[in-house]
Amino acid sequence: MARTIFIAGGSGFIGSHLLEALKGGPAGIRCLARNGARADRFRENGFDIAFGDLLHRDSLKGCLDGVDLVIDLVGIVQEKSEFTFERVHVEGTKNLVDEAARAGVRHLFYQSSLGASKESSSQFLRTKAEAEEIVRRSGIPCTIFRPSVIVGEKDAFTEKLKAVIRLGPVVPVPGDGNARFQPMDVHDWVKCFLIALEDGRAAGKTFEFGGPEHLTYNEIVIQLMDAMEIRKRIVHLPMSFARAGVPFVGLAKGLARFLGRKIPPVTGEQLTLLGIDNICDPDSVEKTFGFKPITYREALRKFIRP
Ligand SMILES: NC(=O)c1ccc[n+]([C@@H]2O[C@H](COP(=O)([O-])OP(=O)(O)OC[C@H]3O[C@@H](n4cnc5c(N)ncnc54)[C@H](OP(=O)(O)O)[C@@H]3O)[C@@H](O)[C@H]2O)c1
Repeated sequence: MARTIFIAGGSGFIGSHLLEALKGGPAGIRCLARNGARADRFRENGFDIAFGDLLHRDSLKGCLDGVDLVIDLVGIVQEKSEFTFERVHVEGTKNLVDEAARAGVRHLFYQSSLGASKESSSQFLRTKAEAEEIVRRSGIPCTIFRPSVIVGEKDAFTEKLKAVIRLGPVVPVPGDGNARFQPMDVHDWVKCFLIALEDGRAAGKTFEFGGPEHLTYNEIVIQLMDAMEIRKRIVHLPMSFARAGVPFVGLAKGLARFLGRKIPPVTGEQLTLLGIDNICDPDSVEKTFGFKPITYREALRKFIRP
């Protein structure tokens, strides 16, 4: 493993788990922080700080001096004001990669996503593919991960689904809920990362992987309800209705207002992703990284309390 590591996205769900694993290790860790609160948390854990934002090129100047490995875990699932997929994934990656080239970084790690493709109907997946290309063309040895959905304590996917499950008497599922996913435990993702980056095989490679089973969205909802010890009927809403925001978002918001609860918004992009299969070989982790990842049900047992 490298001597000095820089992490962008270390405050996020996956980044926090990775930092926990790297804490106390031999490498020096420098974390990109966008604000003082994030910086304080990194400092409390003994990490160095570099203030910056991927969207502001100048803020990255000098951040990577003396760094061997750059880990880029920055991503958004929802666009907000200036933070569009195009700007964060494409422009942000370009800014970081340019600075890495200037600073003489020796290895780049980029976290993309299973299904990343310039032809995808999802803008999230299209911009992830564009970011991959920027990383590959940098001339710096790089490793790209394309995982399926990753779950663990406080992951946004599960948190949102939990809120929808708790909300009303039935659980609204946009579309037929038959798109398949390959959820994996975040600790298994960390293991994959450590194995890939440790043995030097990873440079120049793109790894597609996920958990040990293909589960439809309906099955994911059912297994999560089981873990929460909640039993409710799933009601399918036509995707076109959901997209128009009428029954799904509208109904969910109405219910939330009625019940006095907050529900996280569901965007058109998220609905698109819920309709696309996000799977690869179920034995991908075992074949590539040499261990058997735990199932979704086992992962949920670790962090879902009824
Ligand atoms: N979670 C999954 O299931 C999954 C699956 C496949 C791929 N991925 C990819 O894996 C990566 C990490 O996912 P995650 O679930 O950990 O995401 P997350 O919890 O949303 O964290 C995103 C991170 O990106 C940072 N960030 C966002 N915009 C930034 C900017 N302009 N400049 C600097 N930092 C910025 C955030 O920093 P702040 O704390 O300052 O906001 C945060 O640390 C993402 O690229 C995601 O697309 C995730």
